[in-house]
Amino acid sequence: MSLATESPLSAVDERAKPHVAVPTLHHVNLKTTRKDEMIAWYQTVVGAQVLCHHPAFTFLSNDAANHRIALMQVPGIVEDPDRIHHDGMHHSAWEYTSFEELNDTYLRLRQEGILPVACVDHGCTLSYYYADPDGNLVELQVDGFGAWEQSHRWMVEEAINQEFLVGAAVDPDKLAQAHASGLSFAEIHAKANAGEYSTGQLPDLRLPAPPPDAPPIIRV
Ligand SMILES: [Fe+2]
Repeated sequence: MSLATESPLSAVDERAKPHVAVPTLHHVNLKTTRKDEMIAWYQTVVGAQVLCHHPAFTFLSNDAANHRIALMQVPGIVEDPDRIHHDGMHHSAWEYTSFEELNDTYLRLRQEGILPVACVDHGCTLSYYYADPDGNLVELQVDGFGAWEQSHRWMVEEAINQEFLVGAAVDPDKLAQAHASGLSFAEIHAKANAGEYSTGQLPDLRLPAPPPDAPPIIRV
């Protein structure tokens, strides 16, 4: 029996449901106390370019959009030293079209001393998380299937049944070595998800520590 037939209210709601025009996610806008550092970091990490600069506002883009990142530094904004425990956005996510791009970016940033704080094979994506100068996490990812249609279906049908809901922690150096040795991304992804490239420790996803009796949600 469907919810609509169980509940007269649901049936009414369904009939009254308005058409929802679907917008595309366009940009993130971050409040900051160190705008110049943030500009340099997003230029280095995601290849953003400054399109418009003002002492209080800067607009950057790494594609044809008029901006993908906005940074605001206005009087009254203060740093949040306890952001891990406060609500709000956890991360923005940026997608590459291939593992090679993600891996090359990891190696390039490593040369510059910029290292991820956490790397996780989520199943639907392989994701490297970086912390910007303010501590906002930026997820650099590649689709685990190489096709949104498949990863979308995986999320609907399989994600909840994974042994570890969030996936497997991975060491990006081990993935880079596997790639250099000639393994394909499909092989690397399967091994990563099975825990073969583990760091041996929980990744620092900048969240409060889980209670000691909580079931593990990440394979380490
Ligand atoms: Fe994410």
